[in-house]
Amino acid sequence: MAMQLIYSGASPFVRKVRVALIETGLDAEVEKRPVKTTALESAPEAVAANPLGKIPALTRDDGPAIYDSRVITRYLDARAGAGLYPEKRLWEVLTLEATADGIMEAGVLMVYEHRLRAEGERSETWREAQWDKATRAIKAVNDRWMSHLAGPLDMGQVALGCALGYLDFRLGDRDWRRGNEALAEWYARFSQRESMASTAPAD
Ligand code: BEZ
Repeated sequence: MAMQLIYSGASPFVRKVRVALIETGLDAEVEKRPVKTTALESAPEAVAANPLGKIPALTRDDGPAIYDSRVITRYLDARAGAGLYPEKRLWEVLTLEATADGIMEAGVLMVYEHRLRAEGERSETWREAQWDKATRAIKAVNDRWMSHLAGPLDMGQVALGCALGYLDFRLGDRDWRRGNEALAEWYARFSQRESMASTAPAD
């Protein structure tokens, strides 16, 4: 049976996997299975592949389903021998990917706070604390990671592109570019890659 990616269009974690599929040349081998799922009600297809009920999840032709975007992208990279996790820079790449995942998680939690909680249950303090995490991480990348970002493509860069794309998509009024001009310039170029342009988030 062909591999299947259980996904939904707007998730930045899913987008990482979709970009990785294109960059590794494995895209045609994986059937895409869209599901309607939320943090409050997981789609049955997502639960069948991942007991946590979260997406992305990947059913495989050579073993049980795997999940968590970082696990899936590592698997795809190993399967294709694509070099998105180069041994020489492995800890830098994983740290950048974790930083990017943290930015997307903060953004997603801010969106959920607004979307999934009733008006009286929402906490502005909590939302702003999430934004503080995201802005600290964006500034750190702008100040310390530009030479890494100028290097060959890796999964840290892909994750960062997906995180910044999600902020533009859902939190555009927050203006993450202010004070982060070097990163903004990198992102303007990076988002033109075919793999990024063809996976832009949509509702
Ligand atoms: C969103 O609609 O922003 C979203 C959907 C799924 C996962 C994360 C975010």
